[in-house]
Amino acid sequence: MVDTKVTLSGIEFSNPVMAASGTFGYGYEYAELFDINKMGSFSFKGTTLEARFGNPTPRIAECPEGMINSVGLQNPGVEAVINEELPKLKKCFSKPVIANIGGFSIDEYVAVAEKLDKEEQVGILEINISCPNVHGGGLAFGTDKNMAAEVTKNVKAVTTKPVYIKLSPNVTDIVEIARAVEDAGADGISMINTLLGMRINLKTKKPVIANKMGGFSGNAILPVALRMVYQVYEAVNIPIIGIGGISRAEDVIEMMLAGASAVQIGAANLINPFVCSEIVDNLPKVMQKYDIQSLKDIIGGAHNG
Ligand code: SIN
Repeated sequence: MVDTKVTLSGIEFSNPVMAASGTFGYGYEYAELFDINKMGSFSFKGTTLEARFGNPTPRIAECPEGMINSVGLQNPGVEAVINEELPKLKKCFSKPVIANIGGFSIDEYVAVAEKLDKEEQVGILEINISCPNVHGGGLAFGTDKNMAAEVTKNVKAVTTKPVYIKLSPNVTDIVEIARAVEDAGADGISMINTLLGMRINLKTKKPVIANKMGGFSGNAILPVALRMVYQVYEAVNIPIIGIGGISRAEDVIEMMLAGASAVQIGAANLINPFVCSEIVDNLPKVMQKYDIQSLKDIIGGAHNG
């Protein structure tokens, strides 16, 4: 019997498999397809202070081995999340959930964090300073180490819940941003968000996405995400949630060997809504195949020796 349990900031999860923000709504739609309690947890759709319609359409472009999105933080706003979405989630999910928070200013991050801090089911606050789809928004915070630290410090001051900062890969040196948020008090890091990309329609000869560019995710980015998790693991002493291109139990193990304590699955949910369920089912078999008794023991294993 293998042990799939992992711990993040004192919270134990039955396994490291979590759905990534923006690919799993507020959970209850997926609960119609499978028992979402079999996942370790999931991160709900990035929530801002006010409701947002998001960016103009088209805002999705398909790519080989991935996709580009420019959703623009569409969400109903934090009050509606607390009053309408979380009560529905509570009926189908009994575990601590990760609350993903978006913002356009430090005050906004703080205000949303303060409100979600009072929600019992929220286990971790995941602060998205890396959305590539909103001008003057989160990306600015995620690409500047001083601003990243400032957001972290201010959010930490208003919550007792663990604060994880979601980092952007669209920087020259992700390690310096990781170090800055750790120094500012972050309890953990989620990484990576999407890579800035674009497609051009040959018939119209114009960008496919209305906003021209968007965030590229999917299988193709796994090697980039692994490389960055590996580098950041060597530089910080806080847990990392590894994100980027994961679609199989083997990818989960690879990401944990690089240094992740848990993982999030994003784009793969949009291709196969059962993928998280299938990964949870396959994980023990793949662990046995590679002679792994406990997932906790392999975190950062690729760094030894
Ligand atoms: C979006 O809503 O634009 C995606 C969120 C993100 O990439 O952080």
